[in-house]
Amino acid sequence: LKYLLALNEEKSKQLLYKTANFLRQKHQQNSCCVHGIIELSNRCIYNCSYCGIGAGVKGLPRYKMSLPEVMEAAGAAIEKYGFKVLVLQTGDGAYSVDELIEIIQSIKAKWPCLIFISAGETGVDSLEKLWNAGARGILMRFETSNSELYATLHPGMDFNTRLTHLRRANELGYLILTGSLIGVPGQTEQDIINDIRLAKELNAEMFSFGPFLPSPGTPLAENSVPDKDLIIKTLAVARLIDPEKAKILITTALETLDPASREKGLMAGGNSVMLNVTPMEYRKLYSIYPNRAHAHETITEQINVTIDMLKNIGRAPTDLSI
Ligand code: 5AD
Repeated sequence: LKYLLALNEEKSKQLLYKTANFLRQKHQQNSCCVHGIIELSNRCIYNCSYCGIGAGVKGLPRYKMSLPEVMEAAGAAIEKYGFKVLVLQTGDGAYSVDELIEIIQSIKAKWPCLIFISAGETGVDSLEKLWNAGARGILMRFETSNSELYATLHPGMDFNTRLTHLRRANELGYLILTGSLIGVPGQTEQDIINDIRLAKELNAEMFSFGPFLPSPGTPLAENSVPDKDLIIKTLAVARLIDPEKAKILITTALETLDPASREKGLMAGGNSVMLNVTPMEYRKLYSIYPNRAHAHETITEQINVTIDMLKNIGRAPTDLSI
């Protein structure tokens, strides 16, 4: 697997992508998940050294959507645009567990939809309450499987606590969406292989692996971006490691690194995308990294472009009624 990740020659890389694409088609046919993500708040209590909305990042206006604002955004996504799966994402600690429960219950009371929470470490004991409120998936990357690297990137946080959240969520029946950052300083190819294995061990329904992109105002601001092909190779190797079950996400970060890579990733084992359904005025403030792809596109534009692209490569969108 390390050999595959290290492939350099174009012909060899294409063979890897083709193999992953074959496996994706064999086991998952031509479906591609299209999910909507609402970025509820850019407040955060932590200082992950790569993240552009960390507590210590200065000069960033902070926002926190109110319940009526969330309901309006969710209602539009579901009723107007046809999304069936919504990811509710926010910086850690922006909402209390009770507030998250109220948001989930309010959405579920009004619309039949699948809700994934992506609110960081809510506390292991709160996962059951969030499940009872109606959340059925959790999106939480472990960020790296290397516990020493984890400690250097996440001051004040604990690798095992993160894993405990994911394991508990799995026990409760949540769909697990997890993965890591590719290309953070200090990461080795072996780490990346271990990341994919850890995601599988955690029973990931969907793998989320994306490039580290340096963010202004963070300790890693001056670091360089990873080679875009390394990310595509990671997606392809993930498909080899979990050929049958995995949904493999093409992240917005990868598209930001190279706009052509969404299609490339979907032709190299990937079969999932997320569209940004956050109200326009807040999107630019959710600056986990700069110049995010699609940040200025309306929801209609994103859907049209995505559907056209999927049709072009023979894929059918799932979880979006069009
Ligand atoms: N580059 C790429 N991804 C980032 N994330 C946070 N900061 C960055 C960055 N600078 C990712 C983290 C987190 C997700 C919500 O955003 O992996 O899990």
